[in-house]
Amino acid sequence: MKARMTIKLSSLGIDEQISPYRARLESCLNQVLPAENLAPESLHQAMRYATLNAGKRLRACLLYLTGEMYGASPEDLDLPAAAVELIHAYSLVHDDLPCMDDDDLRRGKASCHKAYDEATAMLVGDALQSLAFELLSSLPQNISQALSQTLARASGSRGMAGGQALDLLAAGKITDLASLQMIHSMKTGALIEAAVLMGAITAGLTDRLQLQHLSDYARALGLGFQIHDDILDVTSDTETLGKQTGADEENNKATYPGLMGLEGAKQAANDAYQQADQALKRLQLNTQKLQMLADYAINRIY
Ligand code: IPE
Ligand code: IPE
Ligand code: MG
Ligand code: MG
Ligand code: MG
Repeated sequence: MKARMTIKLSSLGIDEQISPYRARLESCLNQVLPAENLAPESLHQAMRYATLNAGKRLRACLLYLTGEMYGASPEDLDLPAAAVELIHAYSLVHDDLPCMDDDDLRRGKASCHKAYDEATAMLVGDALQSLAFELLSSLPQNISQALSQTLARASGSRGMAGGQALDLLAAGKITDLASLQMIHSMKTGALIEAAVLMGAITAGLTDRLQLQHLSDYARALGLGFQIHDDILDVTSDTETLGKQTGADEENNKATYPGLMGLEGAKQAANDAYQQADQALKRLQLNTQKLQMLADYAINRIY
């Protein structure tokens, strides 16, 4: 019976395997975001607009799966997962602003600044970020500090925000591979690494070697994921992605396809996937779900 159930689980597609985590996250976000009728109504509506019912929820899923692998319960992982997704949602709202990537479409609907206005979108980002840390501060003290520190470092000037600054500075310039890798690792990899580590921290993992292997996995996954995002901007279409394709070329962005061509970028994404896979093997645990998630993040075709 047990063997049959295992076979059944592994034969499920990735979307079916992660849909329960997506549902938990959705319900948690719905609870923690202020109600639409609470003043200031337009800000709270816009926060909910930018956060709910959309997105792949990759970072939350990474956090849940890593935490569960080390014995944490889904209930314990809900608020850390929501905190990471709130930071991610904020980063997207700001990323789309005219002063950044100037994108009018996000997650299949008008970008936050188009559905509302620029000042509201800026404040949505501010408020989502504060809410993320408010959630972490409500957790038991033994994990709250480590979780906040991990998320703060990953989101700030040495992580996501710093990577976004470098991304803007690199536009229209000749960028070498090392610089491009750094931009991608900071703007995208840092938050993905934080998600994985926060799952482990919530589970109480302190083994340095395991944490190092998890970091290696997450960094490789984060890099591969952003390379894949660059590739999809060239090869996919706006309707499928729910965001404007061809935008990187229009903005003269430094991207992997721009630097090394489509085939070179696909090779780099595959290299990153292999690195993530190798790091998982070093954990010497059943990492099948994390491996599937890396495959989904880097190799999904659309
Ligand atoms: C988009 O992130 C920005 C990148 C870092 C590539 P996602 O592709 O995870 O966006 P959602 O959350 O699924 O909309
Ligand atoms: C965004 O990278 C990374 C963030 C930190 C938001 P992109 O600018 O390539 O993301 P998309 O393509 O707009 O989702
Ligand atoms: Mg951008
Ligand atoms: Mg963008
Ligand atoms: Mg992109």
